[in-house]
Amino acid sequence: MCHSLIIPFATGVYGEFIVTNLMNFQACFLLANGTAVRSCLKLFILMELTLTNSLDFIPLDFKRQNEESMLQESQSFYQLMAQRRTIRDFSDQNVPQEVLENALKAAGTSPSGANMQPWHFVIVQDAAVKKRIRKAAEIEERELYEHRASDEWLQALTPLATDANKPFLEIAPVLIAIFLKKFTVDTSGEKHKNYYTSESVGIATGILITALHKSGLATLTHTPSPMKFLGKILERPSYERPYMLLVCGYPADDVMVPNIKRRTLQEISTFI
Ligand SMILES: Cc1cc2nc3c(=O)[nH]c(=O)nc-3n(C[C@H](O)[C@H](O)[C@H](O)COP(=O)(O)O)c2cc1C
Repeated sequence: MCHSLIIPFATGVYGEFIVTNLMNFQACFLLANGTAVRSCLKLFILMELTLTNSLDFIPLDFKRQNEESMLQESQSFYQLMAQRRTIRDFSDQNVPQEVLENALKAAGTSPSGANMQPWHFVIVQDAAVKKRIRKAAEIEERELYEHRASDEWLQALTPLATDANKPFLEIAPVLIAIFLKKFTVDTSGEKHKNYYTSESVGIATGILITALHKSGLATLTHTPSPMKFLGKILERPSYERPYMLLVCGYPADDVMVPNIKRRTLQEISTFI
């Protein structure tokens, strides 16, 4: 059945594409296995998309390191990351704007489902806006601590000594509100669905936290629950979902952090 579909396509640009592209092997494999017409159609759509997108390829900028240098890099990166801690007491000292911008640019290099880059970062430094965010967050958090959170949840929070008061939302110089874009709207106003949005925004957030830490700044991954108020205060479109509020700045003097333990390599991994 699929042959009748493939022949008209296997001419001209498609023919050239089919013989030169790896996808050809997948097509043959599918045909040889007599997979349903729907699979063939899906494949052709995929091929067309790949064709359109594959025209602009560039050489990969990749420098191979020797193993000694790889080991050194991996050790020093691990040590750097082992020092990262979430803090809840911030200095009000401003942070260098360019450092902030570079960290955001680093976050923007994150991999994302179908390269849709479904994130938007709102950088809040305005005192009045920070005050509004604090007020709204504390209302939600009070509700959480007093009613919504289960006993199990409250018990899990006990070692962190957190409560519904969030003074850091006003004291810290920078709040980065991270939004997850369920759609991307193009210049003509057309909506395009984004894929693997949570995974993509999670990775971008991780890179952002890492970049800020590497640059000498501290963060708090804050998730007031629910966070709808962020979209309203920051006037974001309805297709953007508040994902996280990343509080950023220098630690307050003599800041203390919970003495948490991290699981060992053996506990967190399985090598097969
Ligand atoms: C998704 C997520 C949500 C979090 N939400 C909050 C929060 O709302 N308030 C808070 O004080 N800490 C929050 N944290 C910080 C965690 O409590 C903290 O990462 C954890 O205790 C480990 O400590 P560390 O970051 O210093 O290693 C959150 C962390 C993550 C990853």
